[in-house]
Amino acid sequence: MTAAALEVAGLRVAVRNGSALTPTVTDFSFSVAPGESLGLVGESGSGKSLSLRAVAGVLPPGVAKTGGDVVTGGARMAMIFQEPLTALNPTRRVGDAIADVVQATRRCSRRDARAAAVALLTEVGMTDPARRARMWPHELSGGLRQRAVIAMALAHEPSILLCDEPTTALDVTVQDQVLGLLDRLRQERNVALVFVTHDLAVVATLCQRVAVMYAGQIVETGPTRDVLREPRHPYTRALLESSRTRTSPAGARPIGGQPPTPGSFPDGCRFAPRCPHANEVCRTMTYDLAGVNDQRADACVRTLELTAVNS
Ligand SMILES: Nc1ncnc2c1ncn2[C@@H]1O[C@H](COP(=O)(O)OP(=O)(O)OP(=O)(O)O)[C@@H](O)[C@H]1O
Ligand SMILES: [Mg+2]
Repeated sequence: MTAAALEVAGLRVAVRNGSALTPTVTDFSFSVAPGESLGLVGESGSGKSLSLRAVAGVLPPGVAKTGGDVVTGGARMAMIFQEPLTALNPTRRVGDAIADVVQATRRCSRRDARAAAVALLTEVGMTDPARRARMWPHELSGGLRQRAVIAMALAHEPSILLCDEPTTALDVTVQDQVLGLLDRLRQERNVALVFVTHDLAVVATLCQRVAVMYAGQIVETGPTRDVLREPRHPYTRALLESSRTRTSPAGARPIGGQPPTPGSFPDGCRFAPRCPHANEVCRTMTYDLAGVNDQRADACVRTLELTAVNS
């Protein structure tokens, strides 16, 4: 077993409301090895972005990390944010902005840093990189901008790359190119990737392992193939079902009900109010993410019973 590039244990994040703190992410733990890719999925508002930002140490104002450990063993980490435009300074030419990061990462002359910026733009598949390095962010198309953002992240020479929906704003062809690029970087540079997405098909092609988040907690994790083929937590099953039916002729089957919002998480299992299998135990007992064997873990108290029924 390779040592983890990144290990996160019991991470907690809270949002400040006046003097009160509302727990928003309450149990976020995972590890990812060098060259491995972990997908992070879950409905909107489940806490994926805040969790990644807490890991990277870049939480927005009014949001605080209230517990947990992030261990990297000194490895450098970079993050690609959900809103790519905000990552590029509108008053700095693309090449200069990347050269700034190069110089902040290692000692070198401005001339070398500029050359390194052009090399990075080439590496992320930008044609005519020397000319584009002299452009302003608003002069680039969405796809090129996202490549510039990735080049900027690579300028940190990271061994861990946190990606928050890096392709959502792009059209499908460009999406495929950018995903291919990230996958190549993972393999060639042995970078550990954590990848937030709404698209389970992307997880299936890009990520060896997956973690499913619901209402501020990871509720299931394991090898992607196993989790997608045989989900154990009823939330994972519902999520897969809704994703499979999204394109079906019979129409989408969305998950019934609404997820709870921070500050109103119910007692017991947070998915119980929407779960077809919930019983009294589920509504009262808190059950942490627990693994039985084979690298898989889930937070459903009834897993063994329900798996036996379904198989
Ligand atoms: N800056 C903020 N201040 C206060 N609350 C926030 C802030 N950012 C997020 N939240 C709240 O924290 C919870 C988790 O948000 P987060 O953005 O992490 O969700 P997400 O899983 O990334 O959703 P999406 O899939 O829509 O990106 C939500 O209830 C959200 O409203
Ligand atoms: Mg998000």
